[in-house]
Amino acid sequence: MNYLDIHAHILPSVDDGAKDMETSIALLEMLKEQGVTHVVATPHFYPDSDSIEEFSETVKNAFCELEELAQKKQLPKIFLGCELRYFSGMGKSRAIKQFAVQNTDYLLLELPYGAPITKTVINDIIDIKEVLGLTPILAHIERYSKVPGFKKLLKLVSDNVAQAHINAGAVISKEDARLCEKLIKGGYVSYLASDTHSVVNRPPYIKQALDTISNKLGRSAATRLTIKSNRLLEEIEGTYEEYQFNG
Ligand SMILES: [Fe+2]
Repeated sequence: MNYLDIHAHILPSVDDGAKDMETSIALLEMLKEQGVTHVVATPHFYPDSDSIEEFSETVKNAFCELEELAQKKQLPKIFLGCELRYFSGMGKSRAIKQFAVQNTDYLLLELPYGAPITKTVINDIIDIKEVLGLTPILAHIERYSKVPGFKKLLKLVSDNVAQAHINAGAVISKEDARLCEKLIKGGYVSYLASDTHSVVNRPPYIKQALDTISNKLGRSAATRLTIKSNRLLEEIEGTYEEYQFNG
C-alpha cells in the first residue's frame, strides 16, 4: 500500500529543513525505507517576513531539481506544498490559495507556538474553509494541547471544518505519546506526518510511529491512518472517486 507523508522539509536550502541536496536525498531514502511512497514538500512560508515572489521562485527551482533526481533514484514521488504560518485575516485572503498542496483544496496551516487560540484565529480557520473553499490541515496539533483554546481547535476538526495531523516524532516521544494516543482515539487525527528537517536532529519516524500506534491502539488504528493518507494521495493525483449509491 502507498503512504503519503504530507509534511516534510525536504527541499534543499530553502528553509530550516534539508541544508543541501545530499540531505534531501538522504531524507527521501530514509522515508522510502519507512514505507513512504509519496511526500509533500512543505517549506515554511512566513507572511510577515517572506516575499511571495522570492519564495515561489526559490521553491520551484529547488522542487524541480529534487524531483528530477528523486525520480532517477527511484525515491518517493514528491508533490509541492507549503507550511503556511497563520496571519490575522488570512481567512479572507484569496492569495493564500497558491500555498495549497499541489493545486488541491488542502492547505497545511501552522499556528503560532504558545499563543492562545483566540476567536479571531478560529474565525479565520472557519473562513478558510467557508469563504475560500480550502480545507485547512492543522500542522502538528499536539503542540497546542496546553494552549488556551485548544478544545476549540479540536471542535473544528470534529465539525469537519479542519483536518489535523500529528508528528511521528511526537508519537514515539516520552512527553507526547499519551496525548497522541488520546487524539487518535478521539478521532482528531487525519494524518501522521514526519515533519522531517534533518537526518540527525529531526529525521522521519513514520514506521516507528505506525508500529507504536499499532502496538498500543491496535493494527486497525495504524491502518486507518495509512488509508487516510491514501485518500489524500488519490485526491492529489485526481484519481479519488466517491462511491455512488443508487437507490
Ligand atoms: Fe514543519
